[in-house]
Amino acid sequence: MEQAKRPETMERITTPELAKAFIDEQVAALQKQIGDKKVLLALSGGVDSSVVAALLIKAIGQQLVCVHVNHGLLRKGEPEQVIKVFRDEMKANLVYVDATERFLGKLAGVSDPETKRKIIGGEFIEVFAEEAKKLEGIEFLAQGTIYPDILESEQGIKAHHNVGGLPPELNFELVEPVKLLFKDEVRVVGKELGLPDNMVYRQPFPGPGLGVRCPGAITRDRLEAVRESDAILREEFAKNGLAGKVWQYFTVVPDFKSTGIIDGKRSFAWPVIVRAVNTKDAMTATVENVPFELMQHITDRIVHEVAGVNRVLYDFTPKPTATIEYE
Ligand code: XMP
Repeated sequence: MEQAKRPETMERITTPELAKAFIDEQVAALQKQIGDKKVLLALSGGVDSSVVAALLIKAIGQQLVCVHVNHGLLRKGEPEQVIKVFRDEMKANLVYVDATERFLGKLAGVSDPETKRKIIGGEFIEVFAEEAKKLEGIEFLAQGTIYPDILESEQGIKAHHNVGGLPPELNFELVEPVKLLFKDEVRVVGKELGLPDNMVYRQPFPGPGLGVRCPGAITRDRLEAVRESDAILREEFAKNGLAGKVWQYFTVVPDFKSTGIIDGKRSFAWPVIVRAVNTKDAMTATVENVPFELMQHITDRIVHEVAGVNRVLYDFTPKPTATIEYE
């Protein structure tokens, strides 16, 4: 299929005025393309799908059906924020599917990283397709494809993951309103559409979610330690001015235990690894020099507030040799 090309004359969207012009133009184009038909969108809460949702709500309101699948591997507060912003504030037609039990059931005892990723990806498509089949009269599928996705698929860097996996009986026409935009432009448009800053300037988060930060076979208690320690790290980075400065930061809880002392008693518990990196394109990355006192404070909070943890380690490894994620 012939992919869209960004015209050389297209101005970079850097200001609220340019974003507003883009939004007006897209709203008119979407109304023309869609008419009175219905559109389906998988809304992850990431920047791209959130901006597409907000654009479509503006253009066609209740003709958009958003499906938010919680695979049980989201960060603390994420599904709640998607529901608050889109259902409560933007009045979107939102189907929320809590598929936690289903995903964790399928992942139980699976330790191979690639198998874990395949299970999460495959199950996601299945849950989404099941929801789509329950809905009547959907003719369009909206996607948060952005320009780098098109460029990278052309250059053979990564397969254009969009749609590929949906069952053929779900024969939708595509709606991709931000496919000619770069990430920074998507953010400017999102801000102009009134999305909250913590959604618009969100750090990257992998599709398989916390699953790749709970190395080996995922257990509920270790997954909870990842989620809680990540929430503390994000809170402290936000409070101390690092949230907008550091490209990506998160915690990992490896599957081994070591001896420690908690409340005067011997403990045998997991370590939490903190990772904070900077990069332009995620192909290489350097490690953030987090102030020592802040790391001490974060350590103190994690070991006292997160169940099953007695140590905190900092990952000093750039990419290469390490990748950013652990699986
Ligand atoms: P690595 O670990 O390869 O990560 O150095 C590079 C960047 O890609 C993100 N990442 C993913 N994003 N789906 C995504 O949408 C994935 O399966 C995935 N795996 C890694 C990672 O968080 C980092 O920003």
